[in-house]
Amino acid sequence: MRKAFSPTLQTHAGQPVTFGSLMHPFHGRSAVGILLACLAVVGCETQYGPERTYGLRKDPVIKNGQKMMEERPLPDRPGQLPIASIKDLTEQEDSDHPFYRADSAKRKEFLVQDLVRDTGLISADDRKIMEETLEKLFGKPRDPKVAITDKDGNPDEKAAEGLQVDVTTLARGSVLYREHCLHCHGITGDGRGPTGKWVNPHPRDFRSGLFKFTTVNRVEKASLKASRGDLARTLRQGVEGTAMPSFNLLSEQNIQDLVSYVMHLSIRGETEVRTVLGAFDAAKMEMVDEDGLEEYINKASRSVVKAWKESQAAANAIQVPTMAFDPNDIANVEKLKESVQRGKKLFEDKKTNCNGCHVNYGRQAPYKADDWGTLSRPRNLTQGIFRGGRRDSDLYARIHSGIVGSGMNPFGKDLKSDEIWDLVNFVRVLPYPEMRKNVGIEIPE
Ligand code: HEC
Ligand code: HEC
Repeated sequence: MRKAFSPTLQTHAGQPVTFGSLMHPFHGRSAVGILLACLAVVGCETQYGPERTYGLRKDPVIKNGQKMMEERPLPDRPGQLPIASIKDLTEQEDSDHPFYRADSAKRKEFLVQDLVRDTGLISADDRKIMEETLEKLFGKPRDPKVAITDKDGNPDEKAAEGLQVDVTTLARGSVLYREHCLHCHGITGDGRGPTGKWVNPHPRDFRSGLFKFTTVNRVEKASLKASRGDLARTLRQGVEGTAMPSFNLLSEQNIQDLVSYVMHLSIRGETEVRTVLGAFDAAKMEMVDEDGLEEYINKASRSVVKAWKESQAAANAIQVPTMAFDPNDIANVEKLKESVQRGKKLFEDKKTNCNGCHVNYGRQAPYKADDWGTLSRPRNLTQGIFRGGRRDSDLYARIHSGIVGSGMNPFGKDLKSDEIWDLVNFVRVLPYPEMRKNVGIEIPE
């Protein structure tokens, strides 16, 4: 019989320690003492405390982020976030922040023009109703749920069917999120964890319900969100060229749990956003909806969940047709040349105006405000960095349905699928001078 493999280590005291005994860290010590020491250290717990709530958001709801800023050549400085409170917006005269830079009259104009909504103006009574209703629907960070009710206020088990947002899955997701995502994406998914302001682009604020790198057909239905597969792809691959890391080392189960938890945060956050935008008047933030605040919130939650459900339907995914020829087959090199050349023409054509945003193929594109009120920049396409993935089908999806929130509009309606493939082929060749030469296209140095 072979002896079981049992390596030993030497402790400082010279006592042998087997791996087996290392598995029992309390062995020979006071378990209670260690547990207490452990609780004293912040971050030792894997779960949120039972008292912790999501609470109501304090920052303004950004209603029309893309209109808030002029184009500018530089990103915001490390340590800056988009507007955090209306007070910052109106009082920080000489800050370097892009929002503060405008004269204060301009900032007040944001409020008058209803580009942002001041959540701080909501009355204490209404805040209480909002907080309680949201907690009834979505629970707390430790016990997250998506508990939708029907029109009569009864639990509607069917509402979120198929979204995998049951309490067991969400509880696991919450623990994983706390460990891996919290420091960037924040407890409520606001994108304002402690690391958030130091990375550019800033981590996604899930509360807006907008996701950039998806395969849902937004040409047909602009309200679609993201499929589970889209979110899982983002988690596995990360977002190239940004701080969003790849979590490919996590198990499939962990990834799925995290996807569910991101959906939970997004559904909760968007329900709140829709309420702030829809139930109150802009100037005074007084209730305008006749059915009452609680019912408004319930209605909003139903409609957000419905959009997420629709986003999972196969019929609502972008249908990516196969390219007319295989671009990787050397026999098709002439066809590829023609396709890339057509793609270049289209890219520079008024019809698409790709070059209008991606100025000089993106090498001189200015920063612009996006829907989150942060800065985004049309990609420099000569660098070959693709945040949403580099497969042909990824690029097809970007051009077909646009990049939500960033300002890049969908083209799937105006372009035929062959034209989109021409653009994909062009975009793929663009970063490589040798390949550009081989297919007979030139861009200025
Ligand atoms: C170091 C910071 C950081 C960490 C940690 C991090 N993210 Fe992100 N995440 C980002 C940034 C930055 C972006 C935005 C990229 C962009 O705008 O192009 C992002 C974007 C996303 C998106 C949006 C993708 C889309 O299509 O719009 C999702 C979903 C996401 N992260 C989920 C997670 C989850 C879940 C975790 C934990 C498992 C996590 N992130 C951990 C920084 C981080
Ligand atoms: C209205 C402005 C605008 C127009 C028009 C536009 N884009 Fe974009 N594009 C953007 C912005 C902004 C981004 C960066 C989005 C982000 O934040 O990730 C982008 C990103 C991209 C990306 C990178 C995708 C990735 O995964 O990183 C590609 C490829 C692209 N655009 C191709 C095109 C093509 C081809 C056209 C014309 C058919 C076009 N764009 C038209 C604004 C535009």
